Amino acid sequence: MKDLYEKLANDYDEFGPIDQYLGDEQTFFKNLFAENKVKDVLDCACGTGQHILMLSRLGYHLSGSDYSESMLEAARKNLTARNLTFPLYQCDFRYLERVFDRQFDAVICLTNSLPHLHKDEDLITALKSMRNRLKDNGLLVLTSGTTHYTLTLPSIEVVVNRPDFSRIFVKKHSKKYQTINIVDLFHTDQRNDSHQYQIVYRILLDEDYRKLLSLSGFSEIRIFGDYQMNPYNRESRRLIVVARK
Ligand SMILES: C[S@@+](CC[C@H](N)C(=O)[O-])C[C@H]1O[C@@H](n2cnc3c(N)ncnc32)[C@H](O)[C@@H]1O
Repeated sequence: MKDLYEKLANDYDEFGPIDQYLGDEQTFFKNLFAENKVKDVLDCACGTGQHILMLSRLGYHLSGSDYSESMLEAARKNLTARNLTFPLYQCDFRYLERVFDRQFDAVICLTNSLPHLHKDEDLITALKSMRNRLKDNGLLVLTSGTTHYTLTLPSIEVVVNRPDFSRIFVKKHSKKYQTINIVDLFHTDQRNDSHQYQIVYRILLDEDYRKLLSLSGFSEIRIFGDYQMNPYNRESRRLIVVARK
């Protein structure tokens, strides 16, 4: 499998400061994990480590993994810069048992990570692998920015627009897949380079998650449309899935 983030990892955090992943999202996890007595969490698509950082501030015991060595390298730098160390491993989330022999109270796979897999067979393999890394009654949390509503938005989205840097998404989709072309433009005396990346996501909406999670053995599947835990609907800006082993 190709590492789509090999180069993007260097600049991934230009989305915004990773310390700012607080507020609504942090409160959502704080409440959900408190209700379910979660202490021990695996982030199996940890990227540059922002959710590990966010959850570390709530005192959880954390482990991380990601397919991309470059994203893990960025995560290690981010955590070290904040005097934090957590175990981080290179691992395809279809095969978590190859790296982790223990089980967790919660497994998280956030921000459109699962939809990098395109086939039902691979998605079910990944969800079963995540389920196997959960203790009895453990929780899986998946988040996505792709919703019925976001699929109706214009195809060009200016995601970051700062004096020093701009990030633009150029999107197109068919019934099953969404292609996001990312255009990064630096415009300072130090950096005036530009880069383009392409990511193709499988479009997974509420009914797809319900079906795939049931086939993978999960129960109590809940789908929210925001971090206040309002139910998902066709106007939702987010799709947040919580399911129980
Ligand atoms: C859009 S980024 C999200 C990263 C992070 N979770 C966040 O919230 O910013 C998607 C991440 O999923 C990882 N990824 C994609 N396919 C994977 C796989 N099969 N196994 C593990 N990680 C994978 C990528 O390397 C990348 O770090």
